[in-house]
Amino acid sequence: MAALLALLCGGASAATSDATALKHGEEVYGRCLACHAIEQNRTGPAHCGLFGRKAGTAPGYASYSAALKNSGITWNEATLSKFLADPMNTVPGTNMTYLGVTDAKERADLIAYLKQATQAGKACQLAK
Ligand code: HEC
Repeated sequence: MAALLALLCGGASAATSDATALKHGEEVYGRCLACHAIEQNRTGPAHCGLFGRKAGTAPGYASYSAALKNSGITWNEATLSKFLADPMNTVPGTNMTYLGVTDAKERADLIAYLKQATQAGKACQLAK
């Protein structure tokens, strides 16, 4: 019986933890809203279409640092995790003067949220 309960609870928590992770990730993204939006360039570049895009190439964003443009990074889970953990040491000379998201769980949830929220044409449109 205990095993069955564990099984049931285990299954349920896997499903809810996904939704919880995305919700938590959206909350963590709240810290980025001072400078970023998904669909618009602000102080920082728009994030719509981020995954698979080369660093420094968000359409219409003119204020990139040479450091980021020349970083050779393509954005995916791994490169985002490294950059967001410590932006200024990962890309020395970046204009993103932000200390980063040091907590690995917060970062993972943030990236899971970003992956979903930045699917160009599906989840978001770039403002013209
Ligand atoms: C203080 C303002 C500020 C905050 C806060 C900030 N950013 Fe940035 N971000 C920038 C700027 C400015 C750039 C452009 C950096 C450059 O050109 O070197 C940037 C660049 C980026 C890039 C690279 C995008 C590209 O098109 O190559 C990503 C990804 C990013 N930020 C994610 C985040 C996330 C996620 C957060 C929140 C955890 C965050 N940023 C918080 C200002 C900020």
